[in-house]
Formats: sequence, structure tokens, C-alpha cells
Amino acid sequence: MVIDVSPLLREVNALVAIGTEELTKVFEDGTVAVDQVSLRAAPGEFLVLLGPTGCGKSTMLRLVAGLETPTGGHVLIDGKVVDDLPSRERRLAMVFQDYALYPHLTVAQNIGFPLRVRHETATDVSARVGEVADQLGISGLLRKLPGALSGGERQRVAMARAIVRRPLGFLLDEPLSNLDAGLRAELRSDVAALARRIGVTTLYVTHDQAEAMTMADRVAVLRRGVLQQVGPPEQVYNDPATLFVAAFLGTPRTSLLEGAVYADDDRVVIDLGSQLVELPADHPVRSRHTDRVSVALRADALTPTTAGHTGPSLTGTVRRVEHLGHEALVHVDTGALPTSTERSRLELPGPQAAALMRDAPRPVAARTEYGFYPAYDPELPGEPPPVGEVVVRVPAAGLPRRDEQLKLAVDLDRLLLFDRAGARIRLDVRKAGQR
Ligand SMILES: Nc1ncnc2c1ncn2[C@@H]1O[C@H](COP(=O)(O)OP(=O)(O)O)[C@@H](O)[C@H]1O
Ligand SMILES: [Mg+2]
Repeated sequence: MVIDVSPLLREVNALVAIGTEELTKVFEDGTVAVDQVSLRAAPGEFLVLLGPTGCGKSTMLRLVAGLETPTGGHVLIDGKVVDDLPSRERRLAMVFQDYALYPHLTVAQNIGFPLRVRHETATDVSARVGEVADQLGISGLLRKLPGALSGGERQRVAMARAIVRRPLGFLLDEPLSNLDAGLRAELRSDVAALARRIGVTTLYVTHDQAEAMTMADRVAVLRRGVLQQVGPPEQVYNDPATLFVAAFLGTPRTSLLEGAVYADDDRVVIDLGSQLVELPADHPVRSRHTDRVSVALRADALTPTTAGHTGPSLTGTVRRVEHLGHEALVHVDTGALPTSTERSRLELPGPQAAALMRDAPRPVAARTEYGFYPAYDPELPGEPPPVGEVVVRVPAAGLPRRDEQLKLAVDLDRLLLFDRAGARIRLDVRKAGQR
């Protein structure tokens, strides 16, 4: 559905930036929910805060809204520090996941509620409610009670109630996560389009990478209260700053393996313990000789190839073939060891964690000629066995079988390497192969 927001465009009087400076929140029990986050949504920008459950997204929004008091740092609206400004004077509208509509009030009364508490006249309230309902395509619902609405309708009513006060900014906290998948996808574009066309600066919180990628002007990835990276969706995906970002963004899930770099006079390899990935001899990672590295491989970095293929590759045993109709996801056990971030995927939501939880044979890292033994030291008792798997997309025609050996070509431009602290090892790969 298309929402006509042209009348709203006329009423916007100002576009403001919304930002934070080293914003920190330590709760009384010692939980560091937000850790020195500096972030700025430009005027009119749709900025998505993305991260797993518990990473501090809601706390960030509540701090910006003025519903929580920071233990450090500042909130800025339009470049001005608003730490002492009460929540209602910040002119920010919030929509939460459980955007509790008042069940005993009609849709019209729900939408008009924020105006009535400001003692606007009944005529003004009703005129404004009519306008906003029109713009959101819910005029037909005004006399209904929330209990009689579908999930999508309720969500629109909540948006209408947020818009009615002409806010300077939207703070949206997982507003779609209670809806079913189809509706969620539909409303994604509605919500983003609405926010953009009325030009309201928006902070949108989600743990869903697909939402972030489709809706955001820029994505800010949070982990344990710490800002990992901010950038346009394609940049955060293609050029992740940390191992966590590489792991969090990727469908199917990004494969993470432990390795070490070894360089001889005429050769550079990444040693995975079970096998070597041969890189061009002049590959710049040569400068990391003997360094331990974490290797992140997304499905788009790997292509099944023939035994005769030369160039960087991995081999492994097909453990599972996931049919998706036109293609399949093939899980290939490389015998390598997963990184500690791979293990901490249990932080990740839904299918990604489930995929790790299932039984898998424990890989045995054989000693290679370089003698690299990946140190594996489980932190959690009873955790699932580690899986040195990579996932690759294969067209439905010509699928490999379970237990078959598969050779996978590695796209050097998409080979992501990280140091032991999880920071990206940035390499100018254009240099490789040009000597
Ligand atoms: N009032 C509170 N007191 C103590 N800890 C809290 C409180 N609110 C949130 N937390 C903790 O702060 C962290 C961040 O929570 P939250 O901002 O709700 O994360 P998210 O919205 O990303 O799921 C979590 O570890 C959570 O348990
Ligand atoms: Mg939350």
C-alpha cells in the first residue's frame, strides 16, 4: 500500500540531527548496557541500530528519548546537548515493539491521545486525527477498538499516534517484530518510505539484518553496548570492520574459521590446521607471517570448482544439502576449527544459533606442514561441538551428495581476515598478482 504523505511534507518545519557523544549507561547492577557510543543521524536520515538481543539497542533509544539518564556522555538534538531536557520537550516520538494501544479507547482516541494530554481543543484534535489517519490509510478504522484490528493495522495506528504531534524525530524500537513475516516485509518499506518522505530523522532499532539492510540509509552495528561500525548497508556488509560485523551480517550465515598466516620465499598460505589455503605469493597478508587470523567466508566468497582448479581454494566433505528450490545451500566440513566468535553465535537470534546447535562431527585438525594447531578451548561446558563448516550456494541442477568431497574456489576480494582481537586486517589486494 502507498501512504500519501504529501500533506505532511508541508508541515515539517525543521530537520534536525540526532546524536550521541560517548553515551554510556551502566545499570545499578553493573551491567554496561551502552558503552561510550558516539553516533549521529543526519537531518532526515534513517539510521538503523542493529545488533543481537541484549546489545543495548533499547537502552540507546531510551537514553535518546530521555526515558533513562546516562551515566556518561551526552545526547544531542540539532547539535545541542539535551541532557537536562525532559523527555516530552525533546519532541521525539517513540514506537515500541509492544506499542501498547489503549484497549478501551477507539483508534481515533488512541491517535488523539498525545494531543489531548496537551489540552488541545476537541476540534483541533479531531481535525488532526482525521488528517493523520488519512495519510496512513486508516480512516476507516477510527471508530474501532484495538482488539478488532489486525497486527498490521495496529502497527499503523501506533505510527499515526507517533506522527500526530509532529515530532522532530522518530525512535522506533523493533516496531515490526510482533508481526508475521509477510506483513513485516510489506511494512518495512511502508515505514521507511513514510519516515523518508516526511523527512523525519529516524533511529530504528532491530536485531533483523534483513530489516536493517532494506530500510537503512546507514546501519550502526552494536555489540555488548559497543559501537562496531556505522555505514551504508552495502559498506557494512562488504567491508566489515570487525569479525563480529562479518559474522552478524550474512545469509546464509558467515563461516568463521581459525587460521595462521605463513609466508615462504615463494608462497603465502593461510593454515587452517586441516588444510592450507594457497594465496598468490605476493599477497599482502605476507606481512602477517606467523600471525593467528580469523577467516570469515560468506557463501558469495566460495564457488564449487573442479579438482584441477588452481588458485586459492578449500576442500571439504559435504555434510548437509539444504534445498531451497532453485538452489541449495551446501554445508561443507573443512576440518578447520571455528573461531571463538563462531562459538558466541549463541548470541545470535533464531536460525543462525539453531544451525550451530545441531549435531555435527567434531573436526579433527590434522597437523599441516607448518605445524599450526588451532587452540580450541571451550568456554562453555556442554556447548555444541565446533563446526568447521563453510556454506556455499549451488544451483539445483548438479547438487553434490552427502559425504562427497568438494573443492571450493575462494574469491580473494571477498576473503575477510581479522586479527585475534577481531579487528579487520585490511589488505590492498589489488597489489596481489600484479608484480
Ligand atoms: N533496567 C535495567 N537494569 C539492569 N540491566 C538492564 C536494564 N535494562 C536493560 N538491562 C540490560 O542491559 C543490556 C542491554 O539491554 P537492552 O538495551 O534492552 O538490549 P536490546 O534492546 O539490544 O535487546 C542487557 O544486558 C539487559 O539485560
Ligand atoms: Mg530491545
